[in-house]
Formats: sequence, C-alpha cells, structure tokens
Amino acid sequence: MTDVSLIGLGPMGIALARALQPRYTLTLWNRTAERAKPLLNQGTLLAADARSAVEASPIVLMCVADYAAARAILAMPGVAAALRGKVLVQLSTGTPQDAREAWAAADGVAYLDGALLATPGQIGRPDTPLFISGEERALAACRPVLETIAGNLMYMGEAIGNAAAWDLATLSCMFGAMSGFFHGARICESEGLGVGEFGRMIGAISPVLGEMIRAEGDAIEAGRYGEPESSMATCAGSGRLFVKQAREAKLDASFPHFLAGMFDRALAAGYANERLAAMVKVLR
Ligand SMILES: NC(=O)c1ccc[n+]([C@@H]2O[C@H](COP(=O)([O-])OP(=O)(O)OC[C@H]3O[C@@H](n4cnc5c(N)ncnc54)[C@H](OP(=O)(O)O)[C@@H]3O)[C@@H](O)[C@H]2O)c1
Repeated sequence: MTDVSLIGLGPMGIALARALQPRYTLTLWNRTAERAKPLLNQGTLLAADARSAVEASPIVLMCVADYAAARAILAMPGVAAALRGKVLVQLSTGTPQDAREAWAAADGVAYLDGALLATPGQIGRPDTPLFISGEERALAACRPVLETIAGNLMYMGEAIGNAAAWDLATLSCMFGAMSGFFHGARICESEGLGVGEFGRMIGAISPVLGEMIRAEGDAIEAGRYGEPESSMATCAGSGRLFVKQAREAKLDASFPHFLAGMFDRALAAGYANERLAAMVKVLR
C-alpha cells in the first residue's frame, strides 16, 4: 500500500508527483508507462494497470487531458470496483456538467472535483490556487495531500460542479486579459517599446486592475449600475481608439473590433451613462 495513487503523467501529473514525493509514498499509472520512469524510486512505484493503481492507496488523484480520457480510465476492468470506499480527486479540466456526470457515475466513491489554477512550474507552492468542490468529509481525508500540491486550497462547497465553474470563470477572466495583453504587445511593438517591460509593468500594477474587477463584480451582484466614476460612453471612447490606432499602425484589428462591437451593443441598449458593469446586462 502507498499513501496516494496518481493517474496521469502529462506535464501537470509529473509536477504533482514531484511535489508529493518528499512527503508521501506514491503509486503511479499512466497510459504511456515510460513517462513514469524518471519518477520511480523506493517510495514511488509504477502500477501495472489502472486497477492496481487504484487498489494501492486510499486517495486517488487523477489528472489527464479531459473527462473523456478520465471516463475511459474509470471504465477499465476492475477500476470502478477498486475505487469503492476510496477518495477520488478529479483534477482534469472540464465543465460543471462534466463534473456532475462524473460524480453521478462514481458509485460508492468519495468524489471530489478540483481545478488547479497554475502551470506545472507553479505546483507545490503555498500560494498555488486549487478550487475544490464535493463532500467536505472527503476533503478532510485528503486536505494535507492537496495542500502539498497547492497551498491556496479554496473549498467551493458541496455542489460538485462549483470547482469547474470557478475554474472556467477565472480562466475566462485570464484569457480575456491575455487577449488584451497580446493586442497591447502589438501596440508596444508598433511603437518600438519592449513587450517584456510591458508584461512586467502589468504584473506590477495587477493589484490595481484586480481592484477594478472586484468593484464591477460587487456592482453586478448589487444590481447597482448608476453613478459611474467611468461611464460606458467614456470606456467606449477608448474602445474606438484601439480601432483607430490599429488602422494607423496597420495592426491586426480583431481584438479592437470585438471590443468596439461590445461597446456598440452596450450604447445601443441605452447604457451610455451607466458603469462598465452594465455590460453584463448586454450578455444576459
Ligand atoms: N499544463 C497546465 O498548465 C495545466 C494547468 C491547469 C490544469 N491543467 C489540466 O491538467 C490536465 C492534464 O494536463 P497536462 O498539462 O498534464 O497535459 P495533457 O496533455 O492535457 O494531458 C496528458 C495526460 O492525459 C493522458 N491522456 C490523454 N488522453 C488519454 C486517454 N484517452 N486515455 C488515458 N490517458 C489519456 C496522457 O496520457 P499519455 O501520457 O499516455 O498520453 C497524459 O497522462 C488537463 O485537464 C489540463 O487542462 C493543466
């Protein structure tokens, strides 16, 4: 018997294994067995098949490409039966519906659904975020293991889809900001400015940007769109400047046009004198 079994050794699974190795004995399984070789030692064993991996430990972590891959593994001979009475933590990325279906299929298993908001290089740090949802009792059994891989564990409640919902909402925020960042990088390039410096500056002022996002979230929750410090009309003016600058500097204008289109919809809907948060009413 080992402390933890880990299924899936892509870049993320390998990072999880390395973070756990100093504290726990591990049993590994991966579809492509060779990937486990550099990780094996006295306390880290390779299982011959998925069922043996599940049998080896009371806590089973799974981190594979998606839920289709996870389902394929869970359908392998003997795996479902071997999981009964154990804690299964699903760390593969999916939708809330994926999580609900996986939970419904996990008969007799203490199932937790998790989402790591980090790159493999960030695993094992005290500030690494991990969203977890599911039964609190199951979490109690494996909290120290999960906090070893991601110190900033955020329990999002019993509703099994919550971790995936928080994950996708956060990724939407991140990739939205990244899309804007890449267009910003083209603006910098068009003026001969350093993109690395631009990235470092954004990192440095991110608490201020975070404050703006938090204020819009509070406004949406309260349904409070009036008395804007910065009105939709003012923000739409900046949106038009992106389009103008892209034309002047002959840049790809897909991001400026997307943004200007969103502002046009908000102005057409009559939100010119409301705060930016009113954009959510356009999307609704
Ligand atoms: N990398 C990141 O920055 C990051 C960040 C947060 C969350 N995640 C999530 O973590 C999960 C794993 O990501 P990853 O970066 O390690 O790489 P990945 O390429 O998304 O997943 C690779 C893993 O999935 C396995 N796999 C794929 N299809 C399979 C199938 N049909 N049956 C069995 N196993 C299958 C691979 O096995 P083989 O080795 O045999 O191909 C390997 O273990 C994903 O859901 C990803 O979204 C990743």
